[in-house]
Amino acid sequence: MKLIHLHIVTKTIKIDSKGIERLRLAVQTKDNVQGLTHNYYRYPARFSPKFVHEVIELFSEKGDVILDPFVGGGTTLVEALASNRHSIGFDVSPIASFVAQTKTTLLSENDLQIISKWADFVLQKRIVGVKSTMTFYEDEGYLNNLPWTIKRSVKIILADIEFLKTEKQQRFAKCILLKTAQWAIDCRKSTPTAKHFRDKFSYNLKIFSNGIRELTTAIAKHSKDNSLPQCICINNSSDTINACAELNLLPSKPKLVITSPPYIGVHMLYHQWQVNSRKRTRTPFWIINSLDGQGSAFYTFGHYQSHAKKTYFEIAEKVFTSIHSAIHDDGIVVQLVGFSDHKIFLKKYLEMMNAAGYEEIPIIIDKLNRIKRIWRNVPNRKWYNNTKNELSSSKEVLLIHRKK
Ligand SMILES: C[S@@+](CC[C@H](N)C(=O)[O-])C[C@H]1O[C@@H](n2cnc3c(N)ncnc32)[C@H](O)[C@@H]1O
Repeated sequence: MKLIHLHIVTKTIKIDSKGIERLRLAVQTKDNVQGLTHNYYRYPARFSPKFVHEVIELFSEKGDVILDPFVGGGTTLVEALASNRHSIGFDVSPIASFVAQTKTTLLSENDLQIISKWADFVLQKRIVGVKSTMTFYEDEGYLNNLPWTIKRSVKIILADIEFLKTEKQQRFAKCILLKTAQWAIDCRKSTPTAKHFRDKFSYNLKIFSNGIRELTTAIAKHSKDNSLPQCICINNSSDTINACAELNLLPSKPKLVITSPPYIGVHMLYHQWQVNSRKRTRTPFWIINSLDGQGSAFYTFGHYQSHAKKTYFEIAEKVFTSIHSAIHDDGIVVQLVGFSDHKIFLKKYLEMMNAAGYEEIPIIIDKLNRIKRIWRNVPNRKWYNNTKNELSSSKEVLLIHRKK
């Protein structure tokens, strides 16, 4: 059937059919996540950087403010920084805000040298014995199911991080430890040795250092006057309405929202790691020195099995209503939305957006004037479906909205 590519027009944005094709390729990319600081952590259901990059290029201009109200691992913020846009991200998960903040905090060559020397010392020192003092996190069960060798390796490095002098050096080192521990534990069948763990930490340090250098170079390319784009990341403890007040910290209201809300009807673990594929651990909270206490449903707009019973859509409507008043009148909201069953949930999602004050911008229609959307099959799923229908449970759709 012949499809018609529409041109999207706001006062400042016009996208022709070439732009729509770029968007389709970016949504459907199978490229590995790489470049800049994107590989600091394997955040569940993270964006492809290529997708975010194209959306930023097509829908915004240098100096604009970009908002991601469900920032996750901060892909939007990193790409906004690299493209010289101001940005602000919210997330209820302290793990998300920790990772996003670390990925967007620049370090000097001097900082990197200090961390590298520190790592050489820490990773090579002979471990004679580790004090078996119980920590708060052990008492509270955060370390349950954590293999003993990994607990020991993490404990040793974590204790030595305190010797780094500045907060941003410490955070950088903690994030390397977080990535290394995730690699050692999450969804693995066998546990690496202590030596393998230390080697991986050392390897990750190089990845991190190259990533931050790449981001610094990308920013410098754009900002000839040395003025950095602003980038703010907030752990919003579920109240996006209050969190939106933070937008006043930025030079202007966001013109572009790029986001991916929690998947609908899908069992997703944002805040714990899966040990031996069956058990779970809350180890990440120990490493970043933060508290959980909220349970899985807190991070997913209610329990995934009750999403069909409105909880999801009630929370989503509240969040999108608060965003509506916080963004620019010409603001555009670009989302990738994942579903366990899009035949049920897409319609409800569009109704929710309508109730929150938005109208969809169709970018492609068929001869009968029906909207054709761009879909994507989700590769390498690490999330768990509540349906056996693999095709429909592994799809995301691109939705573009503006204020009514
Ligand atoms: C699909 S993930 C976003 C991934 C992100 N696009 C990335 O590239 O890493 C959805 C995020 O929404 C967050 N979230 C859930 N409820 C929220 C709420 N009420 N306000 C803000 N964030 C929320 C979750 O913690 C999770 O990090």
